[in-house]
Amino acid sequence: MTNTEWWRTAVVYQIYIRSFADSDGDGIGDINGIRNRLGYLRSLGVDAIWITPWYPSPLLDGGYDVSDYRNINELFGSLDEAATLIEEAHDRGIRVIIDLVPNHTSWDHEWFREAIASAKGSRARSRYHFAKGKGWRGRRPPTNWQSVFGGSTWERLSDGAWYLHIFDKSQPDLNWENEEVQAEFDEIIRFWLDRGVDGLRIDVAHGMIKDPGFPDIRDRSAMLDSINAEDHPFWDRPGIHDINRRWRAVLDEYDDRMMVAEAWVNSDRLRDYLRPDEYHQSFNFDLLSAPWDADEFAAAIERAVTNAEVVGASPTWVLSNHDVMRHVTRYALPEGADWRRWPVTGPHDILDEELGRRRARSAVMITLALPGSAYLYQGEELGLPEVWDLPEHVLDDPTWERTSHEERGRDGCRVPVPWTTDGPSLGFGEGDAWLPQPPGFALLAVARQADAPESMLAHYRRLLARRRDWLLGDQSVVIEVDDQVLTISRESGPRCVVNMGDQPVSLPSGVVVEASEAIDGTLPPDCAVWLATGE
Ligand code: GLC
Repeated sequence: MTNTEWWRTAVVYQIYIRSFADSDGDGIGDINGIRNRLGYLRSLGVDAIWITPWYPSPLLDGGYDVSDYRNINELFGSLDEAATLIEEAHDRGIRVIIDLVPNHTSWDHEWFREAIASAKGSRARSRYHFAKGKGWRGRRPPTNWQSVFGGSTWERLSDGAWYLHIFDKSQPDLNWENEEVQAEFDEIIRFWLDRGVDGLRIDVAHGMIKDPGFPDIRDRSAMLDSINAEDHPFWDRPGIHDINRRWRAVLDEYDDRMMVAEAWVNSDRLRDYLRPDEYHQSFNFDLLSAPWDADEFAAAIERAVTNAEVVGASPTWVLSNHDVMRHVTRYALPEGADWRRWPVTGPHDILDEELGRRRARSAVMITLALPGSAYLYQGEELGLPEVWDLPEHVLDDPTWERTSHEERGRDGCRVPVPWTTDGPSLGFGEGDAWLPQPPGFALLAVARQADAPESMLAHYRRLLARRRDWLLGDQSVVIEVDDQVLTISRESGPRCVVNMGDQPVSLPSGVVVEASEAIDGTLPPDCAVWLATGE
């Protein structure tokens, strides 16, 4: 593949490996499943795939609990199959990005096993964060910090020592002040780049450095708010940037590799992650978090474009991923409802599914019209909704247990992809899928949508094909809002006009080349068009 800054304009398709395609009938997606579907990805028109963690892991957090960074989980395949996948993807012009999880290991990682078998103060323990408890015999955790998945961030060993885990207790946090930890990750990165991967998605890129004084967090509302974090003991600490630079130097030993940060910090602070000697890209979650409102969308877009521009980086756009409520469902919620909460009983009765679907068709016309790159999450091209009613016994996200069954967690956006309208798991595999698909998924199967011109899939294919045709690297864009009508204009390519209000508006001049739905003279609410300019 040629040596270009390909990531600046790439459309990247996120594969949640457990749920994409299962080649061996064990109910769990795998590498050969991805290989079998490369033709689908090619015809969809994406430039790259990002595969969620595929390493050996007890899968207590879907693989984000890695026990060996230099191997492949047997459930997913082998190193040889991974090499073949990379080769076959490259043959089809598709780049491969893998997920790197440096903030924590699994408790099954040999380093952690060694740490718990070693004495307090040992070298093995210094690779993680161990601390003394408070109170009588140190029985209370060292700090009041709350884990992202609920409960304390500290777990006590039988010898009385506590170890830190920002996520699940099966995910002990590494000590990134430790030179051995740093050197090990340089080598892990080289290991995969030597095997031909084109990029790395860095998990929890804002969490690696902790305040060594382990202070309590006084303001409980700031506990997990990484977006507004200021001088927080574990989010977005200044030392992060030294790690970013160290990794960038490793990537720069190669030709055209990239790294993209998953950093839930506000866009002004995110800018620093994108300086020329740090990340190539970072997900921008502002647009994903924005309510359906033209001013809010415009503000989020402008911030992301400006912040990237200032440091010479390129913006990115994301509507869904494996951690958030799928956006067809988010957009179907009543105004003001908080999509971040995951109620135990789903809000079927309050969802306006038709509205969600129409807005989703328009939203992707926005992200694909903007400069920069777009990240798509598997199944969004089918319009898959969040699944609310998974039976409790199949729930797998650690959030469910750690919140004492108060929050169901993220399984609802991870239900396996329906490929066909029948079969044991709708073409996902030969056996039952690890999370059951609801009956409605058959209606959204690839086989049903592929030849239906009005389907979500056909819509995505058309948009991606057109985007490819007009794509130029130029980043300039003009965003205008007029009474809830959002207009995105660029020097090259169509103009995107979206009616985010509740009344139809007259159609702007120009030839309509794509529309989110059939239109006739006016632009109805929640509808978007791409207009050819200069005609
Ligand atoms: C990231 C991942 C998420 C995982 C967490 C801990 O946010 O996207 O799925 O649970 O990190 O690794």
